Amino acid sequence: MIPLSIPDLRGREIEYLTRCVEDNWVSSAGPFVTELEERMAAICNCSHGVATVNGTAALHLSLIGLGISPGDAVVVPDWTFAATANAVMHAGATPVLVDVNAENWTLDPQCLHRALAGEEGRIKAIVAVHALGHPADMDSILEIAAVHGVPVIEDAAGALGATYRGAPVGSFGAAAIFSFNGNKTVTAGSGGAIVTDDGVLADRMRHISTQARVSQDYRHDTVGYNYRMANINAAIAVAQLERMDEMIAAKRAIAARYDSAIRGRNDLEPMPRMNWAESCCWLYSVRTKSTEDADNLVDTLNEKGIQARKFWRSLSEQAPYAKSPTYANGVAGALGGRIVSLPCSSNLSQADQSIVIDALDAWTG
Ligand SMILES: Cc1ncc(COP(=O)(O)O)c(C=O)c1O
Repeated sequence: MIPLSIPDLRGREIEYLTRCVEDNWVSSAGPFVTELEERMAAICNCSHGVATVNGTAALHLSLIGLGISPGDAVVVPDWTFAATANAVMHAGATPVLVDVNAENWTLDPQCLHRALAGEEGRIKAIVAVHALGHPADMDSILEIAAVHGVPVIEDAAGALGATYRGAPVGSFGAAAIFSFNGNKTVTAGSGGAIVTDDGVLADRMRHISTQARVSQDYRHDTVGYNYRMANINAAIAVAQLERMDEMIAAKRAIAARYDSAIRGRNDLEPMPRMNWAESCCWLYSVRTKSTEDADNLVDTLNEKGIQARKFWRSLSEQAPYAKSPTYANGVAGALGGRIVSLPCSSNLSQADQSIVIDALDAWTG
């Protein structure tokens, strides 16, 4: 099988992991955790980084760090990974599902505006997702959020390295989260990070992530979580960050080659990329004309030894979120089930990509 998106571990991962073992720093403290936090903050032009066990925990921590609590409502895009809305539920709040726009598949400012007006002050935070590595329209979102005095959290789980109007994602919201899951361009095996400019918020999140312990003699001042990243995961992430630019360049080259291979087709459309953004091209995905076409494309590619997979469905059509307040324009519903992700690991060879392109050429929707 040509894999969909696998880690590229050709840097100093083994060397750094060996160092963890030799120095006996394998758990949820250690020099690589600190280094990862500093590197993430620097990449995102922020003052603080907080390393977490995964991106979902990073989202949950950001929400509770910003004071989200039961009874509050939080905007999430209707078209995102379930983790975005799950984290809101973990905080005891209600997700308000806001549609994405047809142009770029990220949070639609008009629907966002309607949601904030419709929910009459209940919305206490907005989570803007940089979908598939493509930034959301941050200027419009921040402008609307500012009118209502609501903080924005960037869910940049798969968007490390993307830029919006020349500035890195992660540098716009009150906080931003990243995932280092195995399918991300930069992985830690499993892991996440939060970046923020707010030192008080960073301290609070770090505190809650370590069971809210205030002293060595087991005193705790609030309900905490065991959300801190382990040094062995951070060691992998640091080695990966050293090669981040190279890996993202490879991803962008893969995306450009797919783009030109399918240009002009009316049965396959590349993921949109706006001129105000530079996507990090995390997971190259195409839109087919129908869910049947998407199923057929996935089956056809799989039969040829090519791993392809259908991507997110709208949350409003999923059991846990079917009754959530929704501000729709029909786009998330229409995307759901029609998007197919193609092999795009940063170490995908040209020869393997040619095999995928030949299979796409032979397929008609
Ligand atoms: C948009 C989005 N948010 C959050 C997450 C959660 O990250 P993790 O899997 O590290 O918990 C993901 C994971 O892919 C994601 O795509």
